[in-house]
Amino acid sequence: MSVEQALTIADLKEQARRRVPKMFFEYADSGAWTEGTYRANEEDFHKIKLRQRVLVDMTNRSLASEMIGENVSMPVAIAPTGFTGMQHADGEMLAAQAAEEFGVPFTLSTMSICSIEDVRSVTSKPFWFQLYVMQDRDFVLNLIDRAKAAGCSALVLTLDLQILGQRHKDLRNGLSAPPRFTPKHLWQMATRPFWCLDMLGTKRRTFGNIVGHAKGVGDLSSLSSWTSEQFDPQLSWKDIEWIRERWGGKLILKGILDEEDARMSLGSGADAIIVSNHGGRQLDGAASSISMLPRIVDAVGDQMEVHLDGGIRSGQDVLKALCYGAKGTYIGRPFLYGLGAGGKAGVRRTLEIIRKELDVTMALCGERDVKNLSRNNLLKDV
Ligand SMILES: Cc1cc2nc3c(=O)[nH]c(=O)nc-3n(C[C@H](O)[C@H](O)[C@H](O)COP(=O)(O)O)c2cc1C
Repeated sequence: MSVEQALTIADLKEQARRRVPKMFFEYADSGAWTEGTYRANEEDFHKIKLRQRVLVDMTNRSLASEMIGENVSMPVAIAPTGFTGMQHADGEMLAAQAAEEFGVPFTLSTMSICSIEDVRSVTSKPFWFQLYVMQDRDFVLNLIDRAKAAGCSALVLTLDLQILGQRHKDLRNGLSAPPRFTPKHLWQMATRPFWCLDMLGTKRRTFGNIVGHAKGVGDLSSLSSWTSEQFDPQLSWKDIEWIRERWGGKLILKGILDEEDARMSLGSGADAIIVSNHGGRQLDGAASSISMLPRIVDAVGDQMEVHLDGGIRSGQDVLKALCYGAKGTYIGRPFLYGLGAGGKAGVRRTLEIIRKELDVTMALCGERDVKNLSRNNLLKDV
């Protein structure tokens, strides 16, 4: 089956499972501890019911919208994901190109394989950069400057990973720091020949934003110890100020899941918040993103843009988040599955599937403009 034949994100997931070595496929398809929050993110979307409306004009529909003042062909951005160049060789560069061609934002992770400069070299429109705050402040300041120099148009500051959640699958698969490669893992790669061939054809196989830029990081083992020690557990609201000043552009806070934190973010000078639990990869037992969205939207009112990620697997899910007041959404695993299944064409297919589902769902709900969606299109709260 080719990516063009995939009809759903679940189809692309199955294709990725067959093409990507198990340890990297499971790196994407996993959550912290019991994976309860990971599952809830998806399941809670199904509890929301739509109002079916008839005998309304459904012509001339539009999915175009804005996120933080930027025009988007639909309000669905690519979420920052680490290690993306391990789902497919040069993965970040390919996904950024697919997003650009589609007219949606691409967010590059600090923990990407392709560097900021790599992605800049293959795109012509600004992309967004996601920042993890490390204890090595010189490294962080330099990262911000590099993102600025590359013309990135938004900084996405992630707040919910200053301590690493544990994913059992990663430990079992040897994706620990330092990595533990055994014959079993080499076999996993050998049974994915197309993935291997693509990987042999690229020089990008380590964290491109870090190696050569952080003090004392030259090889894989020094990199492992550096990353495991570097996330700053003392990060606080006060830090947002110097980050915002150094950056000087649009700022998005990622990882807000509580109404009180949402209210506190109002004074931070940020342009938007992302309601997110890191795709269920951090605090297992936390509520799903979609279940927290209505209260967070109510808490901040129209003082700040609210975005959402976590559990979106279809255009219907996007529509539900928009109905609850999200101005934009992000997809993590859906694009990773597309990428793993078929590189750039696979990411394009992910976006096409979501666009088609969003468009048809909107029409059947009796709406013609994505910007008009509201709680009025839903039957009941989650
Ligand atoms: C494999 C993987 C790696 C991720 N790496 C990062 C990261 O480097 N930075 C970050 O802010 N979020 C990261 N996330 C979280 C995503 O940005 C996003 O919050 C999450 O994937 C949304 O949930 P979804 O996958 O259900 O769409 C990662 C998620 C996944 C699945």
